[in-house]
Amino acid sequence: MRPDLSSYRHLVSGKVRELYEIDDETLLMVATDRISAYDHVLGTPIPDKGRVLTAMSAFFFDAVDVPNHLAGPLDDERIPTEVLGRAMVVRRLEMVQAECVARGYLTGSGMTEYRESGTVCGIELPGGLVEASKLPEPIFTPATKAAVGDHDENISFDQLARIVGAELAERLRSTTLDIYSRAAEIAADRGVLLADTKFEFGLADGELILADEVLTPDSSRYWPADDYSPGRVQPSFDKQFVRNWLTGPEAGWNPGADTPPPVLPDEVVAATRDRYIEAYERISGLSFADWIGGDDA
Ligand SMILES: Nc1ncnc2c1ncn2[C@@H]1O[C@H](COP(=O)(O)OP(=O)(O)OP(=O)(O)O)[C@@H](O)[C@H]1O
Ligand SMILES: [Mg+2]
Repeated sequence: MRPDLSSYRHLVSGKVRELYEIDDETLLMVATDRISAYDHVLGTPIPDKGRVLTAMSAFFFDAVDVPNHLAGPLDDERIPTEVLGRAMVVRRLEMVQAECVARGYLTGSGMTEYRESGTVCGIELPGGLVEASKLPEPIFTPATKAAVGDHDENISFDQLARIVGAELAERLRSTTLDIYSRAAEIAADRGVLLADTKFEFGLADGELILADEVLTPDSSRYWPADDYSPGRVQPSFDKQFVRNWLTGPEAGWNPGADTPPPVLPDEVVAATRDRYIEAYERISGLSFADWIGGDDA
């Protein structure tokens, strides 16, 4: 008999995930269907998004071959039926207080910093790069973990070393770049560019453990390789579609103003759901229909 979700103590609500305590060493990490954009959680959920993120993380935990926080199978008996397919039993870790980002291409906050200073997180880059340019080699660009409602802030490697210590900073950099390269290879084989991605790590008895979600469309920018064309913002499998709608002519929302984001219309919800599923199926080569949980769980 599977337990009810209410039998676990609720620990934390993130923007997207809920953490529950199974015991002193083990947590239940549940990915909801919530979607965030511009650091706001939207009022409209995307059906099946939590299952897609969980399926995608499970695929990459298996593929990248570094120690990770999974502490049981995806159909573990400790997972309540109501969250089957969107939950993982994970090892409770002391989280490293930094976001570990790897970038193979220049975009987003990296592009913004490059325009101002020719650097990203203090790393000097060659001149003449444009939006979406491929970098000479992938770079490690850490960020602080912001408190709820705040923005993550890019920091230099030296700042990271001051926060977590030089030795751990080195391990974070080399592990982040290793995983990025491996994942970028997997995606490239499926005709997809992994522009950048964010990891979170934890520590258990001094060992570095890959935690949270990995290589999902929420934590990564994936671009279809056949449409790649530097010099413009790339079409992507992440929530750029939702961002464009929110700030476009129809909704006209200003993320900087103090107003809540508008409700997403059904077509935008459906198109966003399709993009998440397409990202999973294209990159993993697996069918989402075969993933566990859902209506007939
Ligand atoms: N194995 C683990 N042990 C303890 N905490 C974990 C573990 N894996 C992930 N977490 C934490 O669980 C939370 C996941 O929630 P969620 O991703 O929704 O947060 P968030 O608000 O999006 O924050 P962020 O922007 O940092 O992702 C994060 O705070 C993450 O650091
Ligand atoms: Mg998160």
